[in-house]
Amino acid sequence: MYRLKTENEEELQMLMLKYEFTLKTLITQIDLLIKEYEFNNKYNPVEHVKSRIKKHESALKKLEEKGYELTVDNLVKHVHDMVGVRIVCSFLSDVYTIVNIIENSKELKIKGEKDYISNPKDSGYTSYHINVLVPIYLNGKVEEVEAEIQLRTIAMDFWASLDHKIQYKFPKEIPNEEKKEMYNCALDIKNLDYKMLGLNYIVNKYNEEI
Ligand code: GTP
Ligand code: MG
Repeated sequence: MYRLKTENEEELQMLMLKYEFTLKTLITQIDLLIKEYEFNNKYNPVEHVKSRIKKHESALKKLEEKGYELTVDNLVKHVHDMVGVRIVCSFLSDVYTIVNIIENSKELKIKGEKDYISNPKDSGYTSYHINVLVPIYLNGKVEEVEAEIQLRTIAMDFWASLDHKIQYKFPKEIPNEEKKEMYNCALDIKNLDYKMLGLNYIVNKYNEEI
């Protein structure tokens, strides 16, 4: 059982409250941005949205793996995904549409972006990650709190959820055979995403013509 070193229980409770405010603000912001886009384009690029505040236990595990002391300060500084939103889309093009929408948001400040779609991880993992600073209003002050937005297609989400289960089953080392098989599945998924994108393009063109 991991425990955070804090003399001050209230400090930790305040931090958790901040994360709750951040998640609620971020979900609302994303919802409004998508509604605005949908109104202007008569198209909703989102399939579904999931969100969570990272569990205490996993946050502390992450800190320990990174070699930091389990303090509130280190939690704030080194765990960048305490607040996380995952946006799942039907098509690859939708992912980049939403990246664009978020990049152009007046409320959310971009802290960093990682395009694991163009540059997949060694495991085969693909998604687009954006770390943002979310302004929250608490005790009469504005504060910016970091959150991680993950964007991916349904197919990428399918792969990642199975991969997550496999990682859980083999926390130390995934057997080579399974690792290779998962990497090959990631290639299949990439192929599928491009095929679906092509089909969608044809369907849209056809609809425009009739
Ligand atoms: P963190 O400090 O963990 O944020 O490390 P990082 O910044 O190097 O990694 P990044 O933010 O790019 O990715 C971390 C998150 O991406 C994880 O919490 C997972 O949700 C997801 N992720 C990254 N790699 C994999 C993978 O190989 N498989 C799965 N299923 N998810 C992954
Ligand atoms: Mg990260």
